[in-house]
Amino acid sequence: MINIEYKYDPTINEKIDLLKKRISENHSKITNKNGLGSEFLGWLDLPKYYKDSSEFNEIIKAGDQIKKDSQVLVVIGIGGSYLGAKAGYEMFKNPFKTNGVEVIFAGHQLSSKYLNNLTEYLMTKDFSINVISKSGTTTEPAISFRILKNLLEEKYKDKAYQRIYATTDEKKGALHNLSIENKYKTFVVPDNIGGRFSVLTAVGLLPLYVGGININDVLDGALEALNDFSTDDVYKNPAYYYAVIRYLLYKSGKKVEILANYEPEMAYFSEWWKQLFGESEGKDLQGLFVSSVNFTTDLHSMGQYIQEGERILFETVIKVKDHSSDLLIPKVENDIDELNYLAGKKLSYINNTALEATLIAHEDGQVPNIKINLDEISHKSFGYLVYFFELSCAMSAYLLNVNPFNQPGVEAYKKKMFNLLGKKGY
Ligand code: PA5
Repeated sequence: MINIEYKYDPTINEKIDLLKKRISENHSKITNKNGLGSEFLGWLDLPKYYKDSSEFNEIIKAGDQIKKDSQVLVVIGIGGSYLGAKAGYEMFKNPFKTNGVEVIFAGHQLSSKYLNNLTEYLMTKDFSINVISKSGTTTEPAISFRILKNLLEEKYKDKAYQRIYATTDEKKGALHNLSIENKYKTFVVPDNIGGRFSVLTAVGLLPLYVGGININDVLDGALEALNDFSTDDVYKNPAYYYAVIRYLLYKSGKKVEILANYEPEMAYFSEWWKQLFGESEGKDLQGLFVSSVNFTTDLHSMGQYIQEGERILFETVIKVKDHSSDLLIPKVENDIDELNYLAGKKLSYINNTALEATLIAHEDGQVPNIKINLDEISHKSFGYLVYFFELSCAMSAYLLNVNPFNQPGVEAYKKKMFNLLGKKGY
């Protein structure tokens, strides 16, 4: 489903060969679960069993209930507790129409305007809430939940609790306690899976299912990836191949990796990817600064910097082979707009030509690129890509000798904010 092309450096294999032993050692650390942060490697085997779990059945049951009684599902969460679901939902929804339940995200910022507008919108809708927080104490989702829960209670009175689905720690935390107290239906963020690696658990799967995505296919895609990427042979394992090339580019002086997509529906996938790599690797004064662009749109803005700004960048480009939706450029009589040379051509062909042309131009401008060729955008390939990047990320962080699975920097801001807001104990 995926292959990686890297043509910028003809001596790349010699450099990779020097790292083969470390890659193999890191592979053992990942699969034997004895490397840094290995207590958070629960996502590694999850695609093998999750579909057969009772939790998965409960997701379907709850999702069906929401589809029956709600026009809107409000997903409240931040960081790893919303980005994966948002990435998948945006990838497959038709921006111009809502089929089934509309999924709206909240709790990922502290904007009163957003919450006021959302409250006004929800007044006229039947809605349910899926509040997601592993720690159960994160300020942004907690505030949104308190406000939107009030609205739900005003509207549905003593039946409101039946419309609240809480995804949180199995045993502890404020959200866990609140759920027990109020009899909310609960789902578990497993102890051994951190937020940004949790999209293939109830954290991502419940909102995705309600949003019309086939979560069986998503997990099938992840399982296919698990099987495809089981070898420590870097030349046969695209996840490790991608990890080692970006590591070598980093070591050669590149400081910024830009993920470029040519399909606007992938914009939020890039946001998920940024969290995955940024939060996993940006430690001990190391790590690539990860950013993203949506092409061809951003060729008319950031394109200038990429072509001629500081030479600290490289690009990772996702190229999609087959497009489920396409159209032909029509021929017109007078050709005043001078487009007849493209008449009869598919728009996807023109988009892919723009991609190839841009890569050549950027390489001429000393911006190396890693091309990820993806067969198609589908529910299955979404699951496949998620697993691909999660595994790449673990390998990549281990190459830097950092713990991929903690986020002390995020905790630092949370604590400081509690302190300034006057929370007890901070
Ligand atoms: O990846 C992570 O662990 C973080 O980004 C968290 O997902 C984010 O801080 C939200 O935390 P929580 O789910 O505890 O509310």
